[in-house]
Amino acid sequence: MDFLTSQQLQLLADKYGTPLYAYNADKIKIQYQRLQQAFSGGNVKFYYACKALTNIHILKFLKKLGSNIDCSSINEVKLALLAGFEPTNILYTSNGIAFAEIEEAVSYGVKINIDSLSNLEKFGEKYKDTYPVGVRLRPNIMAGGNLKISTGHAKSKFGIPVNQVHELEALMNKYHLNISNLHIHTGSDIKDVDVFLKGIEVLFEILPLFRDLNAIDLGGGFKVPYKTDEQGVDMDLLGKKVLETFAAHAAASQLEIWFEPGKFLTSECGYLITTVNVIKQSADITFAGVNSGLNHLIRPMFYNAYHRIENIDNLTGPLKEYTITGYICETDTFAEDRMVNEIKEGDRLVFYNAGSYGFEMSSNFNSRLKPAEVMVVEGKDYLIRRADVFEDLLRNLVEETPGL
Ligand code: LLP
Repeated sequence: MDFLTSQQLQLLADKYGTPLYAYNADKIKIQYQRLQQAFSGGNVKFYYACKALTNIHILKFLKKLGSNIDCSSINEVKLALLAGFEPTNILYTSNGIAFAEIEEAVSYGVKINIDSLSNLEKFGEKYKDTYPVGVRLRPNIMAGGNLKISTGHAKSKFGIPVNQVHELEALMNKYHLNISNLHIHTGSDIKDVDVFLKGIEVLFEILPLFRDLNAIDLGGGFKVPYKTDEQGVDMDLLGKKVLETFAAHAAASQLEIWFEPGKFLTSECGYLITTVNVIKQSADITFAGVNSGLNHLIRPMFYNAYHRIENIDNLTGPLKEYTITGYICETDTFAEDRMVNEIKEGDRLVFYNAGSYGFEMSSNFNSRLKPAEVMVVEGKDYLIRRADVFEDLLRNLVEETPGL
């Protein structure tokens, strides 16, 4: 089933309590199949950008579907190994990291994308041509839903600026580096197929400089709809255009094409279920305060992101305007002037599209506890992470410090 119904969400809230993250595994499967379909016939590999949602049960589910995995820290690499991914199906796209992490990644035998000349030089000194490596380039393209999630523009910290490609070439020659793939990732929430084509153009121009390539990695960033009247990226069109562009280029037609989708695979599968603690009337504003906040879902506050909100305990009541806020001692507004079916204290509000960068960006701010996570597979629910308990807040504290 494409989505969890309000009734299913109510039952999950009754059974596990709130706040609660619920993930519909069937939707992840549907999205994965959409990717496969759009690129069928192409030499394409998908690496799930697990930074979006790393619960190991989600990782195992994606592995079962046949996905590879993209990691952004050495701990994500370790999680991927624990989830059972073969090292050769794990990609570590690093940025701004200590060289020691790259050495550790090499020791696991995973694929690596290096994003600075400095780390590439260290890599060359140590490994010469003995370990194939990818490089992340910054194509100087502005794209993405907002500046915070735009990563390919000319002022972005990510990747080796493409205008420094000759310095990159010099390092490659000096150390006989085996550069096996070129990588770009221009941003998140990208709807425009042309952005991907522009990125390909930038890479195709420098292709002749690299003799050992076997793949081009185009990153992730596919837009998914957050609003009901919004369209995501046209995946079939993207697949068609990308495959055509590669097929028409003699050298590139031999290469594998890689993608690193995060949101596309796990955004829409996720729901954050909360309960309304307080209704507060103030002049012409009605606040509905829920038992959650920026500690559980920071996207609305951090990116001004829109998440659809529904009152699952009153689906047919009159629509009224609310400002929906959290319980954190900050201005953690989820939505301003939002029309929602009339809310009473105790009603459960659901935030949609909460699968990617939801739980994953959560914290214990205000000494609040992180919620449980539940995965629904073919209609059956499984607890995949217990909620924090108070003792978790104390776990790493030393008990007594002499002299204090
Ligand atoms: N590959 C690389 C190298 C990335 O940096 C990212 C995301 C992805 C793939 C996956 O992008 P996606 O398909 O999920 O758009 N927290 C922000 C998004 C930041 C994404 C950072 N990098 C948000 O909640 O909108």
